[in-house]
Amino acid sequence: MPRLISTAVERARIGSGLRVATGVDVVGDIAIVRLPGLPTREKKKFAAALAAEVKNVRCVYEQEGGIEGEHRLRKLRHLAGEERTLTMHRENGCVYKVDVARCYFSPRLSTERLSIARSVSPGEKVLNMFAGVGPFSIPVAKIAGAKVTSCEVNAMACRLHRENNRLNKVDGLVTVVRGDVSRWAETTDLRFDRILMPHPSKADEFLPQAVKLARKRATIHYYRHVLGRDVEEAGSALSKELASILPRRAKRVLRKVRVVGPRWVEMAADIRLGP
Ligand SMILES: C[S@@+](CC[C@H](N)C(=O)[O-])C[C@H]1O[C@@H](n2cnc3c(N)ncnc32)[C@H](O)[C@@H]1O
Repeated sequence: MPRLISTAVERARIGSGLRVATGVDVVGDIAIVRLPGLPTREKKKFAAALAAEVKNVRCVYEQEGGIEGEHRLRKLRHLAGEERTLTMHRENGCVYKVDVARCYFSPRLSTERLSIARSVSPGEKVLNMFAGVGPFSIPVAKIAGAKVTSCEVNAMACRLHRENNRLNKVDGLVTVVRGDVSRWAETTDLRFDRILMPHPSKADEFLPQAVKLARKRATIHYYRHVLGRDVEEAGSALSKELASILPRRAKRVLRKVRVVGPRWVEMAADIRLGP
């Protein structure tokens, strides 16, 4: 992608001062760019050049600010091409209908999703506490053949998740529960072998519920955005956080998922509850 950015910069003739904040996300045929500090005219020139340069891009939007709110949404402004936010995205042999303005979706987690799906065994019962449109849950069902319960508070994301289950022929394996996962946790009798917590800005608030929903020897995949100059510093901050929430018998392996900003790292803890 950096090569495409520099070609688009050259084509748009907007000089070398352009700072594309964190690269370009391409979801289906929609490109999402961050161009802080550039005049609108220059942004539009860059976006038009990007649409011309990348063959499958039909719409270009600017992301203004961060990913925000309970539903973790991007605030988008149209820059070039068609004006629509609904698209079809392909990843790991699955297809997803996504509305990039009304649902969370990041194409940057595809490797992580695949590695989780590959670690699941067919007989497992899996819970995804924060499912979005299904990009973690659907490959778990499709690749491992496991049964998945997906919780999601955003009604639009639930609708698309159910549609995506049908598109990927896993509607017999994946159940979507609409609503706040902590309220659902209070009422359900279900217990799980593996629990996914892909909500890195808030997962800490839900870890006690995850432990309650877990079977004796369950695995919990816990994701967090952690402040740290390097992985070591981020790892020790995460370790401290987990020590205050987890039962003492729980074992954990910490790893870096990706860098998410200057001094911010997305870390994962793979937690094994039982012996
Ligand atoms: C960071 S996104 C991850 C979505 C999805 N796993 C993915 O990778 O595309 C977190 C998701 O959790 C949902 N969410 C936030 N709070 C929730 C809650 N209390 N119960 C259920 N879902 C929640 C948001 O709407 C959002 O879709």
